[in-house]
Amino acid sequence: MKDRSLVSINDYSREEIIKILDIAAEFEQNTHQNLLKGRVIASLFFEPSTRTRLSFESAIQKMGGNVVGFSSSGTTSVQKGESIKDTILTVSNYSDLIVMRHSVEGSARYASEVSPVPIINAGDGSNQHPTQCLLDLYSIRKTQGTLENLEVTFVGDLKYGRTVHSLVIALCHFNTKFHLVSPLELKLPSAVKRHIKEANLTYEQYTDFSEVIPKSDIIYMTRIQRERFPDPLEYEKVKNAYILDNKMLDNAKENCRILHPLPRVNEINVDVDSNPKAYYFEQALNGVYVRQALIASILGLK
Ligand code: CP
Repeated sequence: MKDRSLVSINDYSREEIIKILDIAAEFEQNTHQNLLKGRVIASLFFEPSTRTRLSFESAIQKMGGNVVGFSSSGTTSVQKGESIKDTILTVSNYSDLIVMRHSVEGSARYASEVSPVPIINAGDGSNQHPTQCLLDLYSIRKTQGTLENLEVTFVGDLKYGRTVHSLVIALCHFNTKFHLVSPLELKLPSAVKRHIKEANLTYEQYTDFSEVIPKSDIIYMTRIQRERFPDPLEYEKVKNAYILDNKMLDNAKENCRILHPLPRVNEINVDVDSNPKAYYFEQALNGVYVRQALIASILGLK
C-alpha cells in the first residue's frame, strides 16, 4: 500500500483490506500516535462533506500531522478556470498526500495519474467511495465478529450511491449473500452486479423492504441522492420510497445492525436511533480509525 493511491476499492486485494482493518483496530486501542510529525496532508473537497472531511482531519491531527486544503472550491482558483491537473500539481508541492472529493466520476483516477504524491479518493460522483467502504467493513466486522458468510441488505438509491458500489464490490471477497432493495429506477448498476456474478455469489432484487428484514445480518440504508438526478421530478417520485422505523425491526435478527453512510434525510426514522441495532453514529466514529490506518499505510508508517 506504501506510496499507492486509493482510487477504487478494486485497488486493494482481500488481504490488503484485512490488513487495513487490523491496523485500524490498533488505532482504536491507541488513537493518539505521533506518526505524522512534520507531514502535511492536503484535503481538497470540491463537493460538500461532513464526516469524510472532518474524520480525515481528526485522524491527521490525532497523529500530529498538519492539514491544508479547502471545503469548497468556491474560494479557490477553480473559480478562475484552473483545471484539476493544475490544482493537483500545485497542491502536491505543498503536501505528502492528497485526499480529494469531486463530483466528476473518474476525477480521482485522473488525479492519481497526474499526481506525484498519492491520492485518496474521498468520493468521485456516483462512482466510488473506497474509504467509506473500509469503515463500513470495519463496522460490519466489529458488530458481527466476522466478514464471512453474512446476509447484507442494501436499501435505497443503489444506482447513484457510491458507498453501495464500493461496499458490494468489497463484500464479494467474503462470500456475502446480497439483498438489493430499491425502486426500479434506482437498481444497482450492471457493472457492479457483474462483480457479484464473477465471484460466483448470489443476489436478489426487491422493491418491497419488509420481507427481507428478518433475513438480514446488516441492513445498509442509503439516502436517495437528490443531487445526482438529471430530472428533479424523477427524484420527487422516489424520495420517500423507503423509511425504516422501529416497529419494522421487531422481527430483525438479534445480531442485525443498521448501517448508513450518512447524511440521513428521512430514510431512517429518528425512533430507530435509540434501538440497540442502530449503529450509524458508531460507524461514523470508526471512520477516524480506518482513515488513520490508511494514511499511515500509504505513507509507509505502519
Ligand atoms: N458518508 C459520507 O461520505 O458522509 P459525508 O458526505 O458527510 O462526508
